[in-house]
This record gives sequence, structure tokens and C-alpha cells, in this order.
Amino acid sequence: MSMPEHSTMDVTRVVDAVLRARRSLRAYRPDAVPRPVLEDLLDVASSAPSNSNTQPWRVHVLAGAAKDALGAALRTAFRDNTLPPSPHFPDPLPEEHAQRQRDFGAVYYRTLGIDVADMPARMRQTEKNFDFFGAPVGLIFTIDRRLAPHSWLDLGLLVQNIMIAASARGLGTCPQVSFARFHPVIARHLSFTEHEQTVCGMSLGYPDRDEPVNHMAMPRRGVGEFASFDHWE
Ligand SMILES: Cc1cc2nc3c(=O)[nH]c(=O)nc-3n(C[C@H](O)[C@H](O)[C@H](O)COP(=O)(O)O)c2cc1C
Repeated sequence: MSMPEHSTMDVTRVVDAVLRARRSLRAYRPDAVPRPVLEDLLDVASSAPSNSNTQPWRVHVLAGAAKDALGAALRTAFRDNTLPPSPHFPDPLPEEHAQRQRDFGAVYYRTLGIDVADMPARMRQTEKNFDFFGAPVGLIFTIDRRLAPHSWLDLGLLVQNIMIAASARGLGTCPQVSFARFHPVIARHLSFTEHEQTVCGMSLGYPDRDEPVNHMAMPRRGVGEFASFDHWE
């Protein structure tokens, strides 16, 4: 299905604006998100492409007492600190990436008024991940662990579609890999099937626009830095 020609410029402008306006948001208003809104959001997001149309994603949608109960279990697990670190980044992280991670931390903690050397304050902030940053909806994304990394890419496309569609509807999101480490707790709590693996979580709700943490603009590398046109003829 193609766009009607006369509206192409308008569509381009709107899509570009929505893409550029999306941010990871970490403070929310308590207003509930109606279930039909969420169902519509997931429906449009499911238009994401996937290898051979396998659609390997699974999404656990949590709200109310169920979300709070998982959050409480995760906060306890986070404080107990008995689970091994998540393998989502290698240790050490290659320097090129580590530098950008440090740059992110500098902006993040400065915005929050937290000294980067103040580990207890940083831990308190990290713990907010497990409360879905106060958002009324929490999503947990899983995949069949028997699949190869390429299928995780499919799931990533769904995640991005959800964030973009949410942003277009005035909703805020934050994708969160922090949940990955707590897979055993989540799997037990949400009664996962045998092959389900936690990939990430997501906070979703109406953003609190008054909070400075929601106004961070993380810089991006220029096209010339990440794209090579050496073989463009
Ligand atoms: C796969 C993935 C995992 C992420 N995990 C977390 C997380 O656990 N906690 C968090 O606060 N932000 C998390 N983020 C948000 C990133 O920090 C954010 O996308 C990045 O700094 C760029 O900022 P922006 O999303 O506002 O453009 C994650 C983002 C992605 C794509």
C-alpha cells in the first residue's frame, strides 16, 4: 500500500518529526492508559517486519497491582544483589562505546543533580527502573531463546515501532535492558513458558513534562561518523 502522492511531503514531515521527538522518558503522570489505547498501539506496532515473517516477539503487558507486585520483587532482587551481572554489555566495554556510555552517564546524572561518584544515589536512581519509573504500564519483552541473534533484531523493530507509535499518541516510553539481569525473578513471577527469555522491559505512560530528566537530548553521531560511502559510485 503506497501513500497518496499529494500527501508525501506532509507524511515525511510528520514521520521525521515523530522520530526526532521521541525520547527515553523517566518520569510519568499517574494517569492510567486505557487498555484499548494499548491494544491499538500493539496492533499498529505489530506491522514491524521480521525474518520470514516469524514475528518472534512476545509482550507481557502489566498494570495496576500486577505491575506493582513485579516491581516489588525486582527491587528486592536488586537490593539483594545475588544475581550475576547481565551479559547485555561485555566487560570491558570496547573503549569507543565506553566513552559514549560515560558521556551518557555525565548528562544523565548532571540532569538529576547526582554526583557521578555518589554510588548510593546512583543505585537509588537505577532502582527506579524496576518501578517502571512510576509509569502506569510496564511491558516485558521476551523471545524464544532457541532463536539466533538475528531474531532479536526483529524484536527490536517491534520495540521501536511501539515507542514511535506511543510518541505519536502523546505517550512516553523508556526501553529498559535493566530487566534482563532479573530474568529468573520475572520468569517465575509471570509464569513464562519453557523457552521464553527476557530481552528487555519498557515503561509506558503519559510523561511528566515538568521533570528535567524528561528534557535530556542525547547527542547523536553525525552520518559521516557512522556511515561509510567509500564504495558509493
Ligand atoms: C535496548 C535499550 C536498552 C535500554 N535500557 C535502558 C535502561 O535499562 N534504563 C534506562 O534508563 N534507559 C535505557 N535505555 C535508554 C537509553 O539510555 C537511551 O535510548 C539513550 O540514552 C538515547 O536517548 P534517547 O532514547 O532519549 O534518544 C535503553 C535503550 C535501549 C535502546
